[in-house]
Amino acid sequence: MPMSSLQKVTKSRANSAFKALMSVHWWMAACYFVLFTTGTFMSQLPSEFFIRSPLYDFHKSIGTLVMALLTWRILILLRVWWRKYTKRPPKFTPEWFKTVTLHTSLYVFMWAVPITGFLLSNSYKSNNVKFFGLPLPDIFPQDSAMVDLGRNLHFWLAYTFLAFIILHIVLQWKVAKAMWRRFLGTIKTRFKFLAN
Ligand code: HEM
Ligand code: HEM
Repeated sequence: MPMSSLQKVTKSRANSAFKALMSVHWWMAACYFVLFTTGTFMSQLPSEFFIRSPLYDFHKSIGTLVMALLTWRILILLRVWWRKYTKRPPKFTPEWFKTVTLHTSLYVFMWAVPITGFLLSNSYKSNNVKFFGLPLPDIFPQDSAMVDLGRNLHFWLAYTFLAFIILHIVLQWKVAKAMWRRFLGTIKTRFKFLAN
């Protein structure tokens, strides 16, 4: 059976730390999907609406989780680089620079967007961020003068991050298409009984 693009990406480096890196990659991609949908939805809700506050707490918890996963991912990435580049240094082609620039930008956003979330939440009120109920220490002091800056930074960095993610997905289009087909295939087999 011919190999799909998805299988090619993972199989070609099956024995390396790259497999572990891609595993964190997919978990984090799912978390970003949740963060963008909850973030956009919750900020449109009227202030006293009953699910607004739990949604904010959920968004902040997933945002914190993704920061912890990022630390882990960076450690794995260092292992991938060590194994790869100690064997053979990279060929500095324009293609290599393009990929490294885009991936580095994505890492900067993965760090900066949740930090601005903390800036917004901590400046608004101290002890405002909980990790699924567990209170977290503040990174920034409570300061009403910083709330607007925090909100604007979180808004603009989050949506610029989204634009970079879309560019990345377009560049990885073959893999995205293979994943989509696999997803549709699963839906079809799981819900076959509905068609009968
Ligand atoms: C990579 C992680 C994160 C992403 C991608 C993200 C994304 C977003 C997005 C898209 C919005 C909606 C903005 C709007 O349309 O007004 C939002 C709102 C918000 N986020 Fe995040 N967020 C992340 C992490 C965090 C963290 C860690 C916190 C706090 C600890 C946080 C706190 C908030 C708050 C309080 C709002 C509501 C802003 C408002 O009501 O104007 N976010 N986020
Ligand atoms: C449907 C969505 C996505 C698809 C299909 C996809 C696909 C891929 C593929 C195939 C690779 C491996 C490229 C290689 O061969 O080296 C990769 C790497 C990467 N992707 Fe994605 N990706 C998606 C979502 C995301 C998201 C949401 C982010 C968020 C930042 C992201 C960030 C990265 C980064 C930084 C790398 C470099 C490897 C690493 O350091 O983890 N991707 N992606």
